[in-house]
Amino acid sequence: MLDGFFTESMIGRACEAKLLEIKVRNIRDWATDKHRTTDDRPFGGGAGMLMKCEPVVAAIEAVQTIGCRRIYLTPDGVPFTSAKAEELAKQDHLVLLSGHYEGIDQRIRDTVIDEEISIGDYVLTNGTLAAVVVIDAMARFIPGVLGEEKSLTHESFTRKLLDFPQYTRPAEYRGMSVPEVLLSGNHTEIEKWRTAQQEKKTRQIRPDLLK
Ligand code: ADE
Repeated sequence: MLDGFFTESMIGRACEAKLLEIKVRNIRDWATDKHRTTDDRPFGGGAGMLMKCEPVVAAIEAVQTIGCRRIYLTPDGVPFTSAKAEELAKQDHLVLLSGHYEGIDQRIRDTVIDEEISIGDYVLTNGTLAAVVVIDAMARFIPGVLGEEKSLTHESFTRKLLDFPQYTRPAEYRGMSVPEVLLSGNHTEIEKWRTAQQEKKTRQIRPDLLK
């Protein structure tokens, strides 16, 4: 799942350029029994299986470094934001634990997890996807990962507004024209138009951001 993403994407290029390094580990490698078990049934009953303490704690203890941030991806974590992505980009070393099955033994959280993050109010079958989302959003804040540094400043969420509509050639397509102001060359007017569009769109789609 991860190898393709980390080699093909913008993240792949960032790794090649040594702007970031990603190591993927398989918890099963820290299982000690014959069947390499990593999960078990929950005490007290309930549906599904839980990840067991021993292999998960051993895996994290094997990869952690002094001062690293150990994060568990879980739908009951703190909602992930752009601000969090920016903060994580400043860290030297992150350890991301992605859950499988119904969750993990609470004692894993209590001993080797510093922080819990949710990427949204929905449940994925595989927390690995959530880890990829966090890595991708975080990596954009590492200097040099984005081609043009300035592409960060203009975007959604740096000013807590949604993005303005954008157009490229042709100036007319299927009877739809590009707004005049964008062809005017008047940069003050263009800025004004873009800000107005951002506010309008944000009011329509995400009024919560304006509060
Ligand atoms: N694992 C499963 N669903 C998740 C979510 N929404 N966020 C983070 N990790 C998850």
